[in-house]
Amino acid sequence: MDALHNHILGAARRWFRKQVAWRRYLHQHPELSFGEFKTTSYLRKTVRSLGLELMPLKMDTGLLAQLKGDRSGPTVAMRTDIDALPIAERTGLRYRSKVEGCMHACGHDMHMAVVLGAAAVLSEMRDKIPGTVRFIFQPAEESPPGGALPLIENGAMDGVSMIFGLHVDPSVPTGKIGLRDGVTMASVIDFDIVIQGRGGHAARPHDAVDAIVTAGEFIQALQTIVAREIDPVSPVAITIGRIEGGGARNVIAESVKLKGTARALSDKTARELPKRIKRTAKAICRARGAKAEVTFFLGYPVLDNHPTANEILRKNFSALFGRGKIVQTPLVLGGEDFARYLQLAPGAMFRLGCRNPKIGAVQPWHSSNFMADEKALVYGTALLCAAALDSLVGDSL
Ligand code: NI
Repeated sequence: MDALHNHILGAARRWFRKQVAWRRYLHQHPELSFGEFKTTSYLRKTVRSLGLELMPLKMDTGLLAQLKGDRSGPTVAMRTDIDALPIAERTGLRYRSKVEGCMHACGHDMHMAVVLGAAAVLSEMRDKIPGTVRFIFQPAEESPPGGALPLIENGAMDGVSMIFGLHVDPSVPTGKIGLRDGVTMASVIDFDIVIQGRGGHAARPHDAVDAIVTAGEFIQALQTIVAREIDPVSPVAITIGRIEGGGARNVIAESVKLKGTARALSDKTARELPKRIKRTAKAICRARGAKAEVTFFLGYPVLDNHPTANEILRKNFSALFGRGKIVQTPLVLGGEDFARYLQLAPGAMFRLGCRNPKIGAVQPWHSSNFMADEKALVYGTALLCAAALDSLVGDSL
């Protein structure tokens, strides 16, 4: 290991205790998407104490901060999400959530601690930073259209030449990371559909238009879009996750409300889906004498990791922690609005291994028993610092 990597790793280890304290405070005080008020003020206080400059932001939650090196140069960004989930924590941890029904079950508390740690380490080495490091604390990752867009509108990506993000991964052991070049996560298209029929007596279907039967036909037909209308080499998933309609067993339902989400691994396929979903809903409803009202919401684009940014991560992780510690991240149809930043600058999101069976850190994301091994903080912090510096100085690391 060369001197600079050695320095970074030493500093990351020195900040570890402090990071654990930050992480545990954030874990105990989780807040839902766009409601991250306490989180934001805690981050602001911490970032100020590290001597970072706060950037103006016309948003209720979230934070933009930056650190100017002693020499001028390009700007590199690192991003953490800051929101939690409406899940009641069941881990039994000493520092479990103090907020009823709300939990950092996706590890965003870990991401915040890593990025704060990177800010702490880098703030001590301004003389080695030939440019600016920007820290993006983003609200509402869990809730499309998400917090990335408003942050970008507030200038989060102005002048940024490369961006890095991370997500803890309970399927990867602590001490390893996951990377994947190119498309890694899906485009997300959320939609609501209201099927309007005509109510009536259960025994007189001919006098009514049954919204429940029509909804049943439509739900089946959605899967035929996947199987017969989309190129099978381009993966797609369409799920209706919520259905609401009807009142009593002997009354034909007048209307049914459906909430769904569609996923695709190419933006081209993603653009196809809304018109096909809408056409199917309208046609089936028309055939049955019902009406369909279809609403699409702004979702997330495909997440496309830039190979150059991944190479920087790969090279620096190996320099810090040795070879053989990098696994290939599998393709998934989950979505992540880090994708929005990647539309504006090359960058990559790595998976930070946080699996440790000895302490029970094995449960999947969004589980009420989700836990992350805090030892992962050192690996994430050192990597972000080294990658940020490398992207600023090029090959001199
Ligand atoms: Ni997450």
